[in-house]
Amino acid sequence: MSARVAVITGANRGIGRATARGLARAGFETVLLCRTMDRAEQTVEELAAETRLERFLPAAAELSDPAEIEAAAAGILGRFNQVHLLVNNAGIVNRRYETTAEGIEETLSVNHLAYVRLTCALLPGLLRARGTRIVNLASQAHAREFNPADFDGPSGWKGHRAYTQSKFLNLVFTFDLARRLQGSRIAVNAAHPGLVATQLLEGFVGPSPIKAPIRGLVRLIGKSTDSGARTPLRVATDPILTGITGEYFRKGDRSDPPPEARDRSIQTQVREWTAELTGLDWGEAVESARG
Ligand SMILES: NC(=O)c1ccc[n+]([C@@H]2O[C@H](COP(=O)([O-])OP(=O)(O)OC[C@H]3O[C@@H](n4cnc5c(N)ncnc54)[C@H](OP(=O)(O)O)[C@@H]3O)[C@@H](O)[C@H]2O)c1
Repeated sequence: MSARVAVITGANRGIGRATARGLARAGFETVLLCRTMDRAEQTVEELAAETRLERFLPAAAELSDPAEIEAAAAGILGRFNQVHLLVNNAGIVNRRYETTAEGIEETLSVNHLAYVRLTCALLPGLLRARGTRIVNLASQAHAREFNPADFDGPSGWKGHRAYTQSKFLNLVFTFDLARRLQGSRIAVNAAHPGLVATQLLEGFVGPSPIKAPIRGLVRLIGKSTDSGARTPLRVATDPILTGITGEYFRKGDRSDPPPEARDRSIQTQVREWTAELTGLDWGEAVESARG
């Protein structure tokens, strides 16, 4: 039997790297989708040496660039007919208002639009596989309502508001997609890894030398990346969770998401707004991939 294939973004460091290691140990051929091919290849080498497993493959996409996502997905589907697991993990928090080449606020682009774009691009391969799972890295630090103005800037923009809004959108996308994929072979769930000592967490504090003690504290109270990878890995691999879809997990178990993320009218608003930004309606993508 050929190996099961996993694709994970942001696999070169932080929670993604620890999760990728766990996926290979669980037997997946693990595609490390990193920002550049250099980073992906270096991580493949390092993880292969650490685990003594030859189950890592490099792939590259700058996730704020839709063309790079399309090209990476096409490359993956060209190599593998079936994709059994997608972990949308890469994420950012910014201190300053930044826009992508498309002119979209960067947190929105990387944390939400890239999840949607990559998932839709890989859907044909995900649908061909059996027992497929999609795991979206969300966060307990989520907003509780849909407020696209959180991405407006530069005046009045706040990095933490853009981040928490993007994490609310991860939940909305997860639950809406899970419903649309009911009856297919794909389960879609969201996972909160806990408070994990990574660059992203330190990004909330900022790089100022005066804040070095706070960064030190954050490193102290944050969990290790191996520990942070536990919930995403459980959602990705635990056989007991077979058939479980449209759920939010934290501390390894199902947890209650904000009810607003399950609200159908909010899901419709988010889907239509995302389609306006990207030209990609995930509802239509599901219908067309399911045929
Ligand atoms: N850390 C926490 O406490 C925490 C809590 C809740 C949820 N989360 C979620 O967990 C996920 C992983 O976070 P982390 O803490 O592990 O973050 P991290 O250590 O900062 O790693 C982020 C990863 O995302 C990649 N990435 C960022 N922007 C990218 C882009 N434009 N194109 C391609 N790759 C890009 C980075 O690649 P480069 O190295 O090339 O920049 C890196 O591999 C995120 O979705 C985050 O929201 C984290």
